Amino acid sequence: MNLTERISNIFPLQENVPERFRQSRIEQTEYLVDGKIHSWDGPGIEVVSPVRIAAADGGASPCTIGSFPSMTAQQAMEALHAAVKAYDAGRGPWPTMGVEKRIEHLLNFARAMKEKREEVVQLLMWEIGKNLPDSEKEFDRTVDYIIDTVEALKEMDRDGSRFFREQGVTAQIRRAPLGVTLCMGPYNYPLNETFATLVPALIMGNTVVFKPAKHGVLLLRPLLEAFAGAFPPGVVNTVYGEGAAVIGPVMESGLVDCLAFIGSSHVADLLKQSHPKPHRLRCVLGLGAKNPAVILPGADLDLAVAECVTGAFSFNGQRCTAIKIIFVHESVAERFVDGFARAVEGLKFGMPWEDGVKVTPLPVPDKPAMLAKWVEEAKKAGSAVVNEMGGRVNGSYFHPAVVYPAVKGTALYSREQFGPVAPIAVYKDISKPIRYIEHSAYGQQAALFGSDPKTMASLIDPLVNQVCRVNINSQCQRGPDAFPFTGRKGSAEGTLSVSDALRVFSIRTMVAGKDTEMNQEIFSNIVRGRHSSFLNTDYLF
Ligand code: G3H
Repeated sequence: MNLTERISNIFPLQENVPERFRQSRIEQTEYLVDGKIHSWDGPGIEVVSPVRIAAADGGASPCTIGSFPSMTAQQAMEALHAAVKAYDAGRGPWPTMGVEKRIEHLLNFARAMKEKREEVVQLLMWEIGKNLPDSEKEFDRTVDYIIDTVEALKEMDRDGSRFFREQGVTAQIRRAPLGVTLCMGPYNYPLNETFATLVPALIMGNTVVFKPAKHGVLLLRPLLEAFAGAFPPGVVNTVYGEGAAVIGPVMESGLVDCLAFIGSSHVADLLKQSHPKPHRLRCVLGLGAKNPAVILPGADLDLAVAECVTGAFSFNGQRCTAIKIIFVHESVAERFVDGFARAVEGLKFGMPWEDGVKVTPLPVPDKPAMLAKWVEEAKKAGSAVVNEMGGRVNGSYFHPAVVYPAVKGTALYSREQFGPVAPIAVYKDISKPIRYIEHSAYGQQAALFGSDPKTMASLIDPLVNQVCRVNINSQCQRGPDAFPFTGRKGSAEGTLSVSDALRVFSIRTMVAGKDTEMNQEIFSNIVRGRHSSFLNTDYLF
């Protein structure tokens, strides 16, 4: 089969889907509110897989793999009120529980979660088209994140277990929860990024309402029982449905204290603005990015090609950290572009479960058409697609495209494509990529490829004040999760990492008193008698 035929025949016949990966329809009616799994009997929202099924006589049709509840404002408010009740103005059992006990609940959840690995991984492939190794990695990384969070919390708790004496005042300073937290994750990491906020929010004593992303909803269903079993009533509550119908009223109520949202800045703005008292709302946001890679004249081109291909095309470029534009110096442009295009041609495409597959169909229904439009616009502005069949569309599949030279003024040059298209721009003077970064709406990361330490240093210094991570001869990425993950300008608000996340979902609060005999007696009595979970000197090992 030639390439055109392979793209036209990318989708399998039902009988060609390996038995272990076949997906039967799931009608999700369950939702979790106030510790109980309820059954929804209203209308549902259909889940259409990016994986299509081919017909014997040609063509392929979208395949619906199930449905989930299309809730109304009423159920969303019930979920919110359950979280408000469980928090109980900070008096609830969860926010007042000692750290050791909270850790126990979370570890119970992690144990139950591990048993659902296969189901969740399978649904990651069918709901968002993520390939098998990356789906497995997403699951395992999430479990590791929970374990690492527990360790980081123990350390934080050890720091908080001592008393300070300063200028005649004795105090104990700890971190306390913020209140009711709304968590909304993105479709590209529907498990990991949802949990990257949910887990620290919970462990710090907040109560949570969470709404899964638009795609990647059913994969959280196997975990509902685990949530219900591991946490006290009302601590975790789920909401499903159209964002405007269910999240609008929740935000307008003013009862949300903390918003954790990973997605577009447009939606983040709407959510923030719908809170009646935005100054009372703590926001933790992971938003868009247009991370550039800059290839300097002395760069190791093989390494640069390999890192940029992975950076631009892992999970079809649907990562906020993806390399979304490449600036290459004119002296090495031809060699780099040729190597890059050939490497992209070597990427295996197909269904998520196939061995070695890197490029797969896209979950957002109108994405292939949008990308095709942007590529057409670039072509009209003088760019060419330099890899074979780049940009060919077959239903939900968009064949990766390398667009060269990228032209200022086109969408591909400045807007976030979040898909398998790599625009490559040429520069003569380094001021071109530097100005680009300065004027970008985003400020997450950049990648520098070069070998001369002095040149690299002269770029690192201005860049660290424009973005939050400068990657040296390496693709952009979030991990390791112990490192701070954040962005400037339109890319983020708040910092996430295993330990930073514990801070953003909590606030420093203290108990302090003048060093009088009476106060010392009160402090000692409370501590010795273990009368308070806040005021104590216990250590966690
Ligand atoms: O979509 C944004 C993710 O946080 C990226 O994470 O760099 O590990 O793929 P990653």
